[in-house]
Amino acid sequence: MRSLIYLTLSCTLLSTCVFGYPHGQKNPKLSPAEIEEEISRLINDMILPEKLGQLQQLAGDWYGEVGPSDIPLVKQGLVGSILNVHGAARTNQIQRWALESRQKIPVLIGFDVIHGFRTLFPIPLGETASWDLEAVEQAAAIAAAEARSVGIHWTFAPMVDVMRDPRWGRVMEGSGEDVFLGSEMAKARVRGFQGGDYSAHDRVLACAKHFAAYGAAEAGRDYNGVDMSERRLREIYLPPFKAAVDAGVGSFMTAFNDLNGVPATGNKFLLTKVLRDEWKFDGLVVSDWDAVLELINHQYATNQSEAAMYALNAGTDMEMASRTYVTHGEQLIRSGKVSIETVNTAVRNILRIKYRMGLFDNPFIDENLESATLFKQEFLDAARNITARTFVLLKNQGNILPISKSIGKLAVIGGLAADKFETTDHWPGDVQWQDSVTMLQGIMTKLGVTDTNGQVTYAEGCDTYCRNTSVFDRAEQVARQADFVVVVVGEPREYSGEAGSMTNIGLPGYHLDLVKRIHSTGKPYAVVLVNGRPMTIEWLAENAPAILVTWRSGSMGGHAVADVLFGDVNPSGKLPMSFPRNVGQIPVHYDHKNTGRPIDKASGSLTERYRSKYIDSLNSPQYPFGYGLSYTRFAFENLQLNTTSITAEQSVQVGVSVRNTGQRDGEEVVQVYVRDVAASITRPVRQLKAFKKVKVAVGQTVRIELILKPEDLGFLDDNWQWKIEPGVFEIYVGNNSDTTMQANLTVTTAASEVIGTSTATAVPVTSSTTVNIGESSTHGAASSIQFSVPLIAIFLLLVF
Ligand code: NOJ
Repeated sequence: MRSLIYLTLSCTLLSTCVFGYPHGQKNPKLSPAEIEEEISRLINDMILPEKLGQLQQLAGDWYGEVGPSDIPLVKQGLVGSILNVHGAARTNQIQRWALESRQKIPVLIGFDVIHGFRTLFPIPLGETASWDLEAVEQAAAIAAAEARSVGIHWTFAPMVDVMRDPRWGRVMEGSGEDVFLGSEMAKARVRGFQGGDYSAHDRVLACAKHFAAYGAAEAGRDYNGVDMSERRLREIYLPPFKAAVDAGVGSFMTAFNDLNGVPATGNKFLLTKVLRDEWKFDGLVVSDWDAVLELINHQYATNQSEAAMYALNAGTDMEMASRTYVTHGEQLIRSGKVSIETVNTAVRNILRIKYRMGLFDNPFIDENLESATLFKQEFLDAARNITARTFVLLKNQGNILPISKSIGKLAVIGGLAADKFETTDHWPGDVQWQDSVTMLQGIMTKLGVTDTNGQVTYAEGCDTYCRNTSVFDRAEQVARQADFVVVVVGEPREYSGEAGSMTNIGLPGYHLDLVKRIHSTGKPYAVVLVNGRPMTIEWLAENAPAILVTWRSGSMGGHAVADVLFGDVNPSGKLPMSFPRNVGQIPVHYDHKNTGRPIDKASGSLTERYRSKYIDSLNSPQYPFGYGLSYTRFAFENLQLNTTSITAEQSVQVGVSVRNTGQRDGEEVVQVYVRDVAASITRPVRQLKAFKKVKVAVGQTVRIELILKPEDLGFLDDNWQWKIEPGVFEIYVGNNSDTTMQANLTVTTAASEVIGTSTATAVPVTSSTTVNIGESSTHGAASSIQFSVPLIAIFLLLVF
């Protein structure tokens, strides 16, 4: 029997090696248990200031330097992490200073690598519009490789806040309005940043932020408070965070906002009950910038000492920027307001990540990597490719696009078309914006011209902000002499991002007047929108012949725009967030609840009274979630479920054929939505549960099979356990959230899931060889195997 036990234990170790470790470490020198032992040894040996020092994240000056007065702190081992420094030589210097300290604990270097470091990809909202998980993972992996090559270990990304208010400037940084799409994107980005092992020289530690409900800031005003039911929190705002945990994310960042009366940074319910107790997260939690100190402004703490006490006791391990922990920690422990165990736990969480990062083996970066990695051609090619697939074609009347390359004269109008700085955004990494390609450059390169006096002409019309109309006449003149006009309008970079909230999300300044001027010439034209958020573009939607949404498109945006405008790439992006008709409709998202008096969707029921509607606007958005056109046409045909009736334990296969009936090869996104017709807790009118992006050649038909699992049909009961009720479910399939193609499914039995204590993702997943978009990745599957084997070993040890 003893040999059986040994056999089982070796299997446990072997399986750990074969199947991979949770939270990112594939083949560590120390086993998880050995790491914990090492940490215990270190903690025993550390004096209190050293422990508190580990909890401090200092701020560098963004460009790379540590403040001179902070250097001695690093040398004394009183700093756990530094953000906003980079450069292989500089970060290596920081590590050398850290190794001068008594405990020789390396410093974790953090930076906001949100959508690229030197090679800038489109803003995350744009990347999400690709609906391409592999592309998004690849973009994150490239960002990670560049960041690591300059000594950065830790990115403060992905932002996984669900957001439904485009007034909020930070919508540019997330994945839009949907829970499922947002969760899939969260996993893809964590995989891309961390890989299977974030100690690798081309990966970084990811950070799920901002925990939690920051995206629901009241009135879309940044940093504003949030008051919502626990149901809404758990159904809408928490799942992408849980998805990040399932994908192995190693760190979390607290949010700035107040949540139901308790600021997130001091919120024990979020940081301890949900994150640690329910989700078993064992990574580190960092506050947002100064967010511990801000507990005073929130009117939650009376002074800095109290702020530190609340944040520490709630479960915020590391303090970013402000220094209340190091200043007041000792006194808090002496007075018993914070226990030494709480501090030790926070230190442990931080050291665990440093071990997994491999910093104790080698804290240095090979200084040759930097120049060999940054902005390399391979990355630029990938960026161009991915960027072109993020653009969303909203309108293309009479197939006015693509433009023929043999067009006589092409006018490009708009300051945004030629402004390199405007290719960037609020989170530019360390982009050298002078190296970015503008749309004007992209178009000129595509047509092989070197000046704007021939086939391509250019007029600014107005600058980025479009604050006056003084050179509109010249723009009109240039347009009148052209055979086709590309008008580039939209938002300047500072109108979105952190603290970038707007009450008016239409075209700013005189941009719309510029478009109207061009419109008045009667020339064929296309509007290229530069935007960090969904915008209100009612006039354009009604009057402009073509509209292409290009988000803020980064280093290679100019080439990518040209690729799409001239048809070398067929647009395939779909909106990750509804475009409202007007600000008064906000929040407008497809998965709203129905009411007792819903409108007749087909008619819009503008005239019917006593319905849930506006007198002066339709309920529907200008463009719905999931929407986007192609230069070709796709027919969705032959929707079939493999069964029309299942028990609550069974899955159903949804099959549909996509036929390319147009003249070009293209890509389409098959989207599957579920509507629970009646439930004991009301459900949204429909919810996205699966999607797949497919290539379909001209004349070709591709059959797509997607699997809906039991948890796709269930919801949380009042104890936050997963449950499925019998009844009828309508399954909608199509290429946007308004699709009407439908099949019905009946669930005949009920089920209540008691595995874990919350959320859909706690339900075990059955594997299948069919394309199964809703299923956990191999990464997740590996983790569940790994947990089960040690459990068997423990069981055997107990029995024998
Ligand atoms: C504040 C932002 O809210 C957060 O997302 C970011 O990571 C930190 N600043 C650090 O720059």
